[in-house]
Amino acid sequence: MSKTPRELVAEMTLEEKCSLLSGLDFWHTKSVDRLGIKGVMYSDGPHGLRKQDDKADHLGVNDSIKAVCFPAACGSTASFDRELVRTMGEAVGAECQHEQVAVNLGPAINIKRSPLCGRNFEYMSEDPYLAGEMATAIIQGVQSKHIGVSVKHFAANDQEHRRMSSDSVVDERTLREIYLPAFEAAAKKGKAWTFMCSYNKVNGEYASQNKWLLTDLLRKEWGYDGIVMSDWGAVSDRVKGVEAGLDMEMPSSAGVNDAEVVKAVREGRLDEKYVDICVERIIEVHNRYLEHADPSTPWDKEADHILAGKLGADCEVLLKNEGGILPLKDGEKIAVIGEFAAKPRFQGGGSSHINSFKVTSLLDAAADKGVTYAQGYHINSDDEDAALVAEALEAAKAADKVVLVAGLPDSYESEGYDRKHMRIPPNQNALIEKVAAVNPNLVVLLYNGSPVEMPWLACAKGLIEGYLGGQNVGTANRAVLWGEVNPSARLPETMPVKLEDTPCFLSYGGEGNTAVYNEGIFVGYRYYTKKKMPVLFPFGYGLSYTEFTYSNLRLSAESIKDTDTLQVCVDVTNTGKCAGKEVVQLYVSDRESEVFRPVRELKGFDKVALQPGETKTVAFTLDKRSFAYWNTQIHDWHVETGVFDIQICKDADTPVLCAPVTVESTVVLPMTFTEDSITMDIAKYPKAMAVISQLMNNAAAIFGDSEEQKPEDSEAAKEAVSDEMGQAMMAYLPLRGMISFSQGRINHEILKGLLDQMNNA
Ligand code: BGC
Repeated sequence: MSKTPRELVAEMTLEEKCSLLSGLDFWHTKSVDRLGIKGVMYSDGPHGLRKQDDKADHLGVNDSIKAVCFPAACGSTASFDRELVRTMGEAVGAECQHEQVAVNLGPAINIKRSPLCGRNFEYMSEDPYLAGEMATAIIQGVQSKHIGVSVKHFAANDQEHRRMSSDSVVDERTLREIYLPAFEAAAKKGKAWTFMCSYNKVNGEYASQNKWLLTDLLRKEWGYDGIVMSDWGAVSDRVKGVEAGLDMEMPSSAGVNDAEVVKAVREGRLDEKYVDICVERIIEVHNRYLEHADPSTPWDKEADHILAGKLGADCEVLLKNEGGILPLKDGEKIAVIGEFAAKPRFQGGGSSHINSFKVTSLLDAAADKGVTYAQGYHINSDDEDAALVAEALEAAKAADKVVLVAGLPDSYESEGYDRKHMRIPPNQNALIEKVAAVNPNLVVLLYNGSPVEMPWLACAKGLIEGYLGGQNVGTANRAVLWGEVNPSARLPETMPVKLEDTPCFLSYGGEGNTAVYNEGIFVGYRYYTKKKMPVLFPFGYGLSYTEFTYSNLRLSAESIKDTDTLQVCVDVTNTGKCAGKEVVQLYVSDRESEVFRPVRELKGFDKVALQPGETKTVAFTLDKRSFAYWNTQIHDWHVETGVFDIQICKDADTPVLCAPVTVESTVVLPMTFTEDSITMDIAKYPKAMAVISQLMNNAAAIFGDSEEQKPEDSEAAKEAVSDEMGQAMMAYLPLRGMISFSQGRINHEILKGLLDQMNNA
């Protein structure tokens, strides 16, 4: 029988153990031959396999093996389709098995705090619930092949600017409600094998040595049992990191940091048990792969290319379809304009960059459709080329409809730096307006990893957000444009009108090395809906070639306790003329709250396929977390007793059905009464209130009867103002106020006695 990780650890020398705490090179971990402990290989993800052998680097500069690039997370998340993302994960997992890669470095699930983050194309959403659900789906897909994922970048790594030194300063509630839940889902529901800590500091401490993050939260609170590895080069103080729970340093530090750890143990600065824990975890997780390693797993690249195209079509968001300009019909003369139509941008730059074995552009895919093509602009230039523009306008004039492919060039968004603005190159913006002027039947197809400003929106009849659609993007585009596939994706982020509208506009990027998340929980639609601010397109928005109607929203109860679950059912019918898929979105809205809460928050979604005329019932289960906010007094999720609206919405801004439920809290928030406690807070604690009810009545009489308080106005107004004012005075009155208003009957000593009674009541 082979030895357990613990037995192996017991047999190792300190040097051997510490050697396992860091990589052998860029991508491999070390072995201990005498004990049969094998090293494994890690490779990037997330939307494919980037396996590098020689000349390794982590920024995608050097070539990796030929592989398949699936849609980037900006697009795959837009599918709102757990199954689809899981299928993609299965394909990537199988590729890793074939290539003997134990861990695929992804998914990347940081929250899209600003459209400027250079890495948004790789991230999933502005909404933590959506990101957590989609992360879980891809994790389950990859890991079903006995390949690990590495959920990254843990945590609060929401900008590329100064990413290796910046300190993300985020308050407790915001961390819990916005920046951590997707990671929590990845740990608890997804059961990820590995996590990758981020480069940045979180509230003053580097993630790579942040004990609260890596041990107290991740392992003790969330029950995570996998490896935490560093992002490449994220280690600052390795000894501190070992104690904090950072198992694996990547890449190799050529033994320097391993020796530091040995020394710290020898000098009594680090308890050896921390080394043992890390090593045991590393061996255990690597064994999950090694025991099932199967390089004979087939990798049919052509099949995965086809899969990438098929999935890609379900990731494209139809944003505008005026007069039913789409789908295009056979027989129509179509001009396809824009260099991107021939040279698509289908992935972002940096460590996720896949060396695609094949790329299918829109022009390739639409070769049999008899389209005319004009280049229109140079992708890598901001300047207009008069000859190309003239040619494009000629093509547009001669066509029934125009499909103009525009978007962000590689240099505009990439890992490693942030965008400075939200614009596409000026030559493309200008071309769109010129083309629209000669042919109003214009469809714009965008390739971009993050929202862009659309000054030409009014003059485009059709608009498709194609995101970064993977190497078979052309096939996906063709399918949606000509209606072979009915578009069904929805925006996983808000498309704001302009950069200045974005919630963190005033503080994004931070000052020096400090990035304070001033906007708190109001990220993405949580901000725009609260401010009733116009946006280009709201979170969750997306059209279809058919129509859906909702009916029959029903809840399993009118009233529940916060320990119960609530079943919600709604019927959705395809009332249009063709088959399609609808994303049913459930949001919860707290009618009244003592803490600041968003207008509504996504708490459930499902994607259903429906034939014309068909109706299906979609069911959701809500639990305490669906109603709760993070309470910083008890450091836990808390539901305020009250009425919540369950809203079925077309998008974050458009509720279509609504039903109320009363949720009763079973948790009484602890309260210590002091002289400063005010009446309205005490009133929530009937027993404490009883202690001072007589006093309160006396005080109420004072405020209610006080003639001096009344303004010299009409008699009726006097009464109204007086009543309201009196009540307010009473509600906000601190206990110490009783001393002033009791005409000497109450002093501090008496009050102290009452406080003792109240606190013990
Ligand atoms: C990136 C990670 C990536 C790693 C290895 C880092 O620069 O932040 O996402 O997995 O490199 O390439």
